[in-house]
Amino acid sequence: MSDSASSPRPETAEDIADVIRSRRSINLFEPQAPGTADLLDAIELARWAPNHGLTEPWRFYLIGERTAAEIVDFAVEFETAAKGEKAGLARRKRLEGIPAFFVATCRKSDKALLQQEDYAACCCAVQNLMLYLWHRGIGVKWTTGAVTREQRFYDVVGIDSEAEMIVGFFWYGRPKVVPVQKRREVAEVVVDTP
Ligand SMILES: Cc1cc2nc3c(=O)[nH]c(=O)nc-3n(C[C@H](O)[C@H](O)[C@H](O)COP(=O)(O)O)c2cc1C
Repeated sequence: MSDSASSPRPETAEDIADVIRSRRSINLFEPQAPGTADLLDAIELARWAPNHGLTEPWRFYLIGERTAAEIVDFAVEFETAAKGEKAGLARRKRLEGIPAFFVATCRKSDKALLQQEDYAACCCAVQNLMLYLWHRGIGVKWTTGAVTREQRFYDVVGIDSEAEMIVGFFWYGRPKVVPVQKRREVAEVVVDTP
């Protein structure tokens, strides 16, 4: 690594802090789909997440129009079966208002520690991706609803559920509303040890 890559660059530290602090999960989007160019750039950065043993356990599925329509149909069917027709209709309206989707997966392992560390790495990768998109004016919502654990969801997207687990079904687009969030005080989450 070159010296310039490893030495502190204070002029950018606050910019990074601002991106991290201001990023929000977005519920309401502008209708236009943002296209996949920014997402691909974000995936390029996602890959630089720490990952133990360089397992690079992540995969990103860019959801095309036909697959998106199939996902929506399945999610509506799933919601209707669980909560009734009115809830199903509401789910359709909600999902049809989302401009674009992607899915992130983690390779599966039958070794518990490896699985845990691979999943941790995938979450780091997703955060890289979300922060980069946020900086480019694109908001993301990470979802892990029950529907994403259904075999049919895997089938619709074309994921081998023997080999990969879904980390999230992500909604993304230009934010219409940015929610306000808060966090606990630093002192509440810091433990000093002697
Ligand atoms: C692993 C994971 C799963 C999540 N699943 C959902 C979800 O199913 N539905 C949802 O509305 N938000 C989901 N979220 C987003 C959180 O609700 C959100 O991050 C939290 O409210 C804090 O808001 P912020 O991201 O704007 O800081 C998920 C986040 C993570 C990290």
